[in-house]
Amino acid sequence: MSDFVRIVEVAPRDGLQNESAMVATADKIELVDRLSATGLRSIEATSFVSPKWVPQLADAAQVMAGIRRRPGVSYPVLVPNEQGYARALASGATEVAVFTAASEAFNLRNVNASIDASIDRFVPVLAQARADGVRVRGYVSTVLGCPYQGEVPLADVVRVARRLHALGCYEISLGDTIGVGTAHKAREMLLAVASEVPMDALAVHFHDTWGQALANVAACIEAGVRVADSAVAGTGGCPYARGASGNVASEDLVYMLHGMGIDTGIDLEALAETGRWLAARLGRETGSKVGRALAAA
Ligand code: HMG
Ligand code: MG
Repeated sequence: MSDFVRIVEVAPRDGLQNESAMVATADKIELVDRLSATGLRSIEATSFVSPKWVPQLADAAQVMAGIRRRPGVSYPVLVPNEQGYARALASGATEVAVFTAASEAFNLRNVNASIDASIDRFVPVLAQARADGVRVRGYVSTVLGCPYQGEVPLADVVRVARRLHALGCYEISLGDTIGVGTAHKAREMLLAVASEVPMDALAVHFHDTWGQALANVAACIEAGVRVADSAVAGTGGCPYARGASGNVASEDLVYMLHGMGIDTGIDLEALAETGRWLAARLGRETGSKVGRALAAA
């Protein structure tokens, strides 16, 4: 098992989609550019969903036009359907992420479609992406619980993840959208999926609503996963998941991984500085404990 973990930084998308105040396009661009200078290899830059549903990211094309793309860094963007894919492609995206859920009740609220109908929408996206040489990542939400349905059977998580992988997603990110999972359950969920989808095609995505995100990532790293999503300053949350709050903070995750002797290629000080900069832009203190400790040191 390799001692490198790739972090997928999702603050520009997951972080900013949930902010009540509008963030200036120039600040979004500066955020991505600052993140690009920290050693991150994957930065989810924005989202081409319907601006009626997520007005916070209506400026996705301007963000993509403004960022400086560093060689060796991937800038995936979220797309829900062919319309989003066309907009993403026109903006020069070379990687996209499609998303669905393990819970029908959540998926209906998030994308106004059943799980199968949402997958049907992105079958043509995957085919077109293959033709265009665009890589596709897939998300499965509500893998450890749903705000509307409650418990989510493991078999449903495995079924949806297997389907996305079979359709051609090179990586499946398993999302605890509302942050209710705990370490043993997270590990059990990951191993159940890994019995059907190769571990090196899996990633984990934990929100920290109940304070469990870091423990959950640690359990999954020990179980073998080598890709984790996180957001600087602990920003994030899905506007269509009642009670969802921030992602695990990237600074806290990097500090933990480096402490475990695992390389990330990321400059922690630069990352923490970016997290504090973002928090200041959002008018609050950083949600990263490591970011605060480094500032006080
Ligand atoms: P709908 O209303 O059922 O679909 O929305 P529609 O096709 O009738 O479209 C409605 C209007 O939006 C139409 O405009 C479309 O043209 C337009 P109108 O005719 O009324 O003028 N439209 C679009 N415009 C621009 N780009 C597009 C697009 N698509 C439609 N791509 C839809 C269905 C899927 C579009 C909508 O429900 C949607 O956009 N949902 C996105 C919700 C969202 O972004 N949630 C947060 C991201 S997921 C997440 O955070 C979880 C994750 O982090 C993992 C985890 O934590 O678990 C990934
Ligand atoms: Mg999320």
